[in-house]
Amino acid sequence: MDRMVRLLLLLAFLLPIASGCAPHRLTEEQMLDPQECASCHARAVDEWEGSMHAYASKDPVFRALVAKGQEETDGGLGAICVTCHAPLAVQMGATDDGLNLDEVDDALQGVTCAACHMADSVDGLNNNQITLAQDGVMRGAWGDPRATDAHDSARAPHLDRGHRASSDMCGACHDVVLPNGLHLEQTYKEWSESVFATQPETQLSCGQCHMRGRDGFGSDEPGARERTLHDHSMPGMDVALNDFPRREQQRQEVQDLLDISLLAFLGARVGPGGLIFDYTLENVGSGHGFPSGAAHNRRVWVEFEAWSGDQLIYSSGLAGEEEAVLDLDDPDLWMMRDIIYGADGEEVKHAWEAVTMDKVQLSPGLTADPVDPAFVHSVTRSYQVLGTPDRVRAQVRMRPFGLDVVGPLVDGGYLEQSAVDAMPTFLLASTVKEWTAE
Ligand code: HEC
Ligand code: HEC
Ligand code: HEC
Ligand code: HEC
Ligand code: HEC
Repeated sequence: MDRMVRLLLLLAFLLPIASGCAPHRLTEEQMLDPQECASCHARAVDEWEGSMHAYASKDPVFRALVAKGQEETDGGLGAICVTCHAPLAVQMGATDDGLNLDEVDDALQGVTCAACHMADSVDGLNNNQITLAQDGVMRGAWGDPRATDAHDSARAPHLDRGHRASSDMCGACHDVVLPNGLHLEQTYKEWSESVFATQPETQLSCGQCHMRGRDGFGSDEPGARERTLHDHSMPGMDVALNDFPRREQQRQEVQDLLDISLLAFLGARVGPGGLIFDYTLENVGSGHGFPSGAAHNRRVWVEFEAWSGDQLIYSSGLAGEEEAVLDLDDPDLWMMRDIIYGADGEEVKHAWEAVTMDKVQLSPGLTADPVDPAFVHSVTRSYQVLGTPDRVRAQVRMRPFGLDVVGPLVDGGYLEQSAVDAMPTFLLASTVKEWTAE
């Protein structure tokens, strides 16, 4: 009998552990590991795993650039790149230059849950000036969290999409200022000057556009409360180029976002010796410039074709699948990107060589007042077509990385060709405009 009781007691102790659902206090190490959250926040983990935040330090192009950059600067980049791309790996001393990312524990790779939810304060609007707390508290938007043994919870305005402070937190990483002072990535600055930040009636935070809400439960534990949950997949323009969770879904999400970003118009008028086509683009869906952020890597361009019967009589921006758009000999090319220049004023490819920059982008709405001249923020380019076209098509294409950027990384032995082969070329559905002679 005594043995039976002891066995039962032992079973009662072991069973919850074996079934994996026993709520227990996460250790300090477990608090940092996204996988430890999956038993109670499965959807958030699933979405995050396929996001660019999870990809940030696994990205083969990121690793290639860090390797090349450290080599060319003799280690001069230090921890700057990994500070934003793998903040917890830096914080925990697992890397100080990003050259050993292959050996860094998976739990510390990328912009992890802890990088946002353990943020105690936002101390500046660039270069990840976020102070992380190691106090076992997960910060969120709820003022009334249900108690859990796993971790403490607290409300923080910088984790509340309804609060401007949440954009400041995103902005802390989404603006990059190089040691030489060049403000290389300006997504937050662009947003802060737009109608989405300056006008009360059109206010939208980063999270309100990038984290769609849905009904669900605060945790997957029994008895959980009904809550509004938010999408953690956060698509933008970048896509995974290696074998990565939710890869096809992420591409579709990027496509869906691109398809609502721009408005386009195409008009024709008579010109010398033919017709002039005015193609107008307006940034309506994006809360900052288009493209934004790492726009020195992005290639956004207009493809324009004019046909007479089955003869192509004029074209601009027609690049083959494997052709770098920048290599086109095309004086009319309409390309949107950041052009970066080195100390000698010549164009360069990489952040660590950059000293100055020109931005060619579509700006977001700057005012909601239709009388204000700044209300019009569309851009028009005119294409002069000689002869008698009977059919014209204009459309916008986007590549997350220029082939002129990644090609040389393969040649230099920093990147596998398979990453370049996986590079998609997106077509933005809302920009496809056709004109016919009738
Ligand atoms: C054993 C279950 C469990 C685990 C494991 C767990 N959580 Fe939670 N978490 C909860 C519960 C329960 C709540 C509160 C739900 C509610 O109030 O509806 C919560 C709330 C949260 C909140 C919202 C806090 C607020 O006040 O708004 C965040 C953020 C959060 N958890 C992040 C995490 C992260 C990150 C991990 C992994 C490191 C994690 N959780 C692991 C159960 C868990
Ligand atoms: C880039 C920053 C960021 C990262 C990384 C991140 N979160 Fe969140 N998380 C947020 C924001 C912002 C909210 C929305 C709060 C609000 O406004 O309600 C949120 C909300 C939550 C909530 C509350 C429920 C909900 O969906 O609103 C939970 C739970 C949560 N996150 C868990 C996680 C887990 C687990 C991970 C890692 C797998 C993670 N988060 C990664 C920023 C982040
Ligand atoms: C700790 C730094 C950090 C914070 C905080 C952060 N991000 Fe990011 N975010 C990154 C990095 C680094 C990447 C780039 C990953 C890549 O493409 O390899 C990224 C990528 C993204 C992308 C995808 C961009 C693309 O081109 O596909 C979006 C969208 C995004 N973040 C939105 C947000 C939002 C919204 C918030 C605030 C809720 C936020 N981020 C907070 C560092 C951060
Ligand atoms: C009004 C909605 C809206 C708001 C507000 C918004 N975004 Fe975006 N964001 C978009 C759309 C649409 C795209 C895709 C088109 C594009 O790249 O501009 C995008 C793209 C991005 C990208 C990829 C840009 C690129 O060209 O590589 C990043 C990074 C990003 N957003 C971060 C942010 C951050 C950080 C904030 C807040 C400071 C923010 N977004 C505010 C709608 C929004
Ligand atoms: C202040 C934080 C920060 C620093 C510092 C930083 N990055 Fe990023 N990086 C980002 C964010 C945010 C994005 C996403 C921007 C976007 O999608 O437009 C990004 C995107 C990227 C990407 C994704 C590629 C792309 O174009 O989509 C690469 C590669 C990259 N950075 C490389 C680097 C390298 C190399 C360094 C160091 C020289 C570096 N980054 C420094 C925040 C940072």
